[in-house]
Amino acid sequence: MATYEFIDHKYDVVVVGAGGSGLRAALGCAQAGLKTACVSKVFPTRSHTVAAQGGISASLGNMGEDDWRWHMYDTVKGSDWLGDQDAIEYLCRNAPAAVYELEHWVVPFSRTEEGKIYQRAFGGMTRNYGEAPIQRTCAAADRTGHAMLHTMYGQALAQETEFFIEYFALDLIMDEGVCRGVTAWKLDDGTLHRFQAQQVILATGGYGRAYFSSTSSHTCTGDGNGMVLRAGLPLQDMEFVQFHPTGIYGAGCLITEGARGEGGYLTNSEGERFMERYAPSVKDLAPRDMVSRAMTIEIREGRGVGPKKDHINLHLDHLDPKVLAERLPGISESARIFAGVDVTKEPIPVLPTVHYNMGGIPTNFYSEVVTRAGKNPDQVVPGLMAVGEAACVSVHGANRLGSNSLIDLVVFGRSAAIRAGETLKAGDSQPELKPAMTDGHLARFDALRHADGKVSTAALRLEMQMSMQEDAAVFRTGASLKSGVKRLAAVHGLRRELKVSDRGMIWNTDLMETLELDNLIGQAVVTVTAAANRTESRGAHAREDFPDRDDANWMKHTLTWFDDKTGKVKIDYRPVHAFTMTNDIAYIPPKARVY
Ligand code: FUM
Repeated sequence: MATYEFIDHKYDVVVVGAGGSGLRAALGCAQAGLKTACVSKVFPTRSHTVAAQGGISASLGNMGEDDWRWHMYDTVKGSDWLGDQDAIEYLCRNAPAAVYELEHWVVPFSRTEEGKIYQRAFGGMTRNYGEAPIQRTCAAADRTGHAMLHTMYGQALAQETEFFIEYFALDLIMDEGVCRGVTAWKLDDGTLHRFQAQQVILATGGYGRAYFSSTSSHTCTGDGNGMVLRAGLPLQDMEFVQFHPTGIYGAGCLITEGARGEGGYLTNSEGERFMERYAPSVKDLAPRDMVSRAMTIEIREGRGVGPKKDHINLHLDHLDPKVLAERLPGISESARIFAGVDVTKEPIPVLPTVHYNMGGIPTNFYSEVVTRAGKNPDQVVPGLMAVGEAACVSVHGANRLGSNSLIDLVVFGRSAAIRAGETLKAGDSQPELKPAMTDGHLARFDALRHADGKVSTAALRLEMQMSMQEDAAVFRTGASLKSGVKRLAAVHGLRRELKVSDRGMIWNTDLMETLELDNLIGQAVVTVTAAANRTESRGAHAREDFPDRDDANWMKHTLTWFDDKTGKVKIDYRPVHAFTMTNDIAYIPPKARVY
């Protein structure tokens, strides 16, 4: 093994990731007087939050009466009752304040005639406990994530957060169950770093790139999830992968649900607005899992459009061109570039495309990472928090409602900062780090750097992505998942046969992609294993061989541990929190999910 030396840094808090949740957590910790570093593999304003389009949910009531309890009801129902209701209450009651905070930081929201924040309709968002669709999603045209990310980066700089940009985080520094920091590789000069901290906050995003076709950026490789698995900690509810109904056919780029919120609708080859059959009350504004399934059924039954009858049309051509120009300029451009379509005249060809991971690192609503320890399902892992798509808090349960992601980022980024401010003392002493805590990090890094087998990273990644795409799709069966488990075991085995051609330390994208692939493989394995294990249909997990929701046996969170040496997955469970946070709202009991 080559000899490596670390450059050491000491902080009160180290945030890994500089998307919406990472920036909100980092600026809050700095504001609380904690010495805070933010380590990111990309420049902060290139984080995937930049791609979020349609908006951020909060019951502001700018377009008619609204109530956080209605938002909570919708989120619980949207989650197919797998969401933790205490966390959902925390999310929905804190959402308006979080949006006003963004407004005060001067996020350029679109405005109503009266100058209030503009809100649009989004799937599954209703008034008065399911009565009718409501306009609850606050929007900055169709570039809401872009506006938020740039604003929060400015705020984080103003709070003197220290940024370490283009540092690739390698592994968590664990010391007998306590997280003491993180190691990282500086991409532009090849140096290795140890970031010691009282608190590490993982804000590393989702792992959409485990699939072949995804609206996620190529950087979405779930690096924090990979680190958590290697630290011997579990991931939660990984079987729940969201397909967004309207990815551009062939390209996978996102066409915001806000397009349907502004009046767009889907048609099949017969020109039929088929969502009227599947969700008579909310139609095209049903939750994403339902719309994606409906589209898949239409295509399967021969009513897809195009020469191969393999996609669906999204119509915006009936909308006022002024509305398109003002409210949907970004997707109008995407449709022109990626589908060659003028949205004022023609429909956009669309197909359900992987978009979001409901599963991730289990946390409580303080954003502290939890695990099951014996009989205790809520054992806090000292020194470690997780926020954003990396985390599973779990407010989205089995299916996230559109626009509940951006609000999750800021509400729980803020909750992490509040908790860190309450529990940490700035400048407190920290134990000395021992080489044994990082020897494994270096061994893995060196082994991949010098990998000299016969399989290229690109080829192995493609095999993993195709298996996920084919075997763990919108609809799954026991047979497809069994095939997925087998194919991914083979992918995991072939990791030993990888070949990395560039042995250098500086801007070695070959090695970086290999480290990312290594992170993805563990997540892909636990995803298909958890999906094969859950013998019911709930939210985004639609089993054709088990078509019904089974509350008696499956009203519980799946925990998966991955043994990287053997490729084996261990499964256990945590109960769903069937209680609220305060007495301001009662527990919402499960019922049929009809729209
Ligand atoms: O459709 C969209 O604009 C995506 C929003 C979301 O995933 O929350």
